[in-house]
Amino acid sequence: SMRVLAYGGGLDTSCILVWVKEQGYDVIAYLANTGQKEDFEEARKKALKLGAKKVFIEDVIREFVEEFIWPAIQSSTLYEDRYLLGTFLARPCIASKQVEIAQQEGVSRGATGKGNDQVRFELTWSSLVPQIKGTAPWRMPEFYNRFKGRNDLMEYAKQHGIPIPVTPKNPWNMDENLMHISYEAGILENPKNQVPPAPNTPDILEIELKKGVPVKVTNVKDGSTHPTSLEFFMYLNEVADKHGVGCTDIVENRFIGMKSRGIYETPAGTILYHTHLDIEAFTMDWEVCKIKQGLGLKFAELVYTAFWHSPECEFVRHCIGQLGGKAQVSVLKGQVYILGWECPLSPYNEEQVSMNVQGDYEPIDATGFININSLSKVTAK
Ligand code: ARG
Ligand code: SIN
Repeated sequence: SMRVLAYGGGLDTSCILVWVKEQGYDVIAYLANTGQKEDFEEARKKALKLGAKKVFIEDVIREFVEEFIWPAIQSSTLYEDRYLLGTFLARPCIASKQVEIAQQEGVSRGATGKGNDQVRFELTWSSLVPQIKGTAPWRMPEFYNRFKGRNDLMEYAKQHGIPIPVTPKNPWNMDENLMHISYEAGILENPKNQVPPAPNTPDILEIELKKGVPVKVTNVKDGSTHPTSLEFFMYLNEVADKHGVGCTDIVENRFIGMKSRGIYETPAGTILYHTHLDIEAFTMDWEVCKIKQGLGLKFAELVYTAFWHSPECEFVRHCIGQLGGKAQVSVLKGQVYILGWECPLSPYNEEQVSMNVQGDYEPIDATGFININSLSKVTAK
């Protein structure tokens, strides 16, 4: 029978392709373009050469941005206070298309048996097609007893004519998409090892949001404007990269109960996170804001732990607000500074808050407000 393998083009999934074929399956290689820098035609040739029956290269960048990244930006949230969701947002996007290709047949993937990705792929498969059959080589004794690590994979690759990457000792494991790059394992496994330092002048951007999502980016200095989602996302990636914005070095808790150290880059995502967060603070009702903060945390946790396709996650996405406004943003030395806001729909009232004008406000009312609030504390004594 057939297996649709989520193929990455690297050593691991190339060996897995050949190995799954050796187990008697027909392999269809599936490569999702989520915006990673990769030579897709090269990967296609490689998969065919290794014996894939067919190769599907699916461009899912637009859905990735509009259906997955935008809700994440709208949620204004982080996983465990630091992680901007980038790897795990891509998983349901990649796995959903994989299932479409596989339908009832079968799926396979190269994620290890120690991480989160295995859960994310497999829960996405089963939530879309409950009766689907999956192959998870890294969890099969006949695979993991044979391949104890990278050296065994290299050995196998040599024996089976699988091209070995030109940079044989990439000292970590990488996962890349338009939103994010993660580096884990290798030399990072020793948490004592440190990372490298950006221009001295900022880029100043004007970022406009409508219905909660960014719609336009203008560089205030050179006047260039970027009006379509994909294009300004790539532009923001470029600006953020230049200024070293969006890099975090963290220890996180994996779903399966291990702590893991990783270095994550989320350039455009970081600029948009800060912009959205500040426009939200400026425009959103106080009580709504507090409820939404809780929903945001829930959103990060649900997507991290593989429950994108679930009633609760759908509900949370539905509740995540839609707001509009513009902010001027400065990007400099790894930091994003919001310089100013323009949000016509904000409840912010300049006259009311001003220390120079009385506005629509009676100071004497504050006396009663304070007295009532002090009541419980006074009687408690
Ligand atoms: N630990 C991070 C997460 O769970 C990054 C995973 C990276 N995946 C990979 N296949 N390299 O989201
Ligand atoms: C993997 O296991 O393939 C990467 C790490 C993770 O998913 O947490």
